[in-house]
Amino acid sequence: MKYLSLILSVLLLACVLCACTSGGREEAVQNTSEETAVQETDLEDETVSKGSGKILVAYFSASGNTKAVAEKTAETVGADIFEIVPSVPYTDSDLNYGDDNSRTTVEQNDDTARPEISGTVENMEDYDTVFIGYPIWWGQAPKIMYTFLESYDFNGKTIIPFCTSGSSPIGSSAENMQSLTTGASWLEGQRFSAGASSEEVSGWVNSLGLK
Ligand SMILES: Cc1cc2nc3c(=O)[nH]c(=O)nc-3n(C[C@H](O)[C@H](O)[C@H](O)COP(=O)(O)O)c2cc1C
Repeated sequence: MKYLSLILSVLLLACVLCACTSGGREEAVQNTSEETAVQETDLEDETVSKGSGKILVAYFSASGNTKAVAEKTAETVGADIFEIVPSVPYTDSDLNYGDDNSRTTVEQNDDTARPEISGTVENMEDYDTVFIGYPIWWGQAPKIMYTFLESYDFNGKTIIPFCTSGSSPIGSSAENMQSLTTGASWLEGQRFSAGASSEEVSGWVNSLGLK
């Protein structure tokens, strides 16, 4: 009788242990599938936040040199193009860098200058990559580029700067604009001479390996 009750107790204990173990396994399986679901959702979100992979070339050009480079860039990579047009156009006397009182000299010396832009980019959120093109003015980007960068949310986008100039390098011009955007990845910029050839421009664009 003693033996029988001992055997029954052992069997009962074995059943209880078995039930606990299999319950634990189920929970682990459930956790694993929940984790997988979360990971898949994260991946979906990431795909969504990456946008549609579209590329925009946005440029400002006062006398046409940067416009030519921008057009070749857009053509090479199959991008949309947006011209940054000042609400008040720059006249020849505005562009006179020999005059200490010309509009451009005054603007470039004023950290707070933000010349107004006429028109806006439609659906900026659709673009993953934005080229920004500008002429070098006094070693820097024209202040209207600052207006442009402060007008949109560039979070998660890649920004690729390029410029044209008489002889100055791109220097610190792109670097000085980076603080105007948050969460954007800036690639190294490229400077072109006023009469840059199509091959020079397309060679640079192709070297970036964009799709
Ligand atoms: C106000 C002003 C300032 C300029 N400053 C410089 C300069 O610092 N260094 C330089 O190499 N070229 C300078 N340039 C020449 C322009 O960068 C060059 O002509 C450029 O290609 C013009 O581009 P755009 O035709 O697209 O306006 C300046 C031109 C202007 C109008």
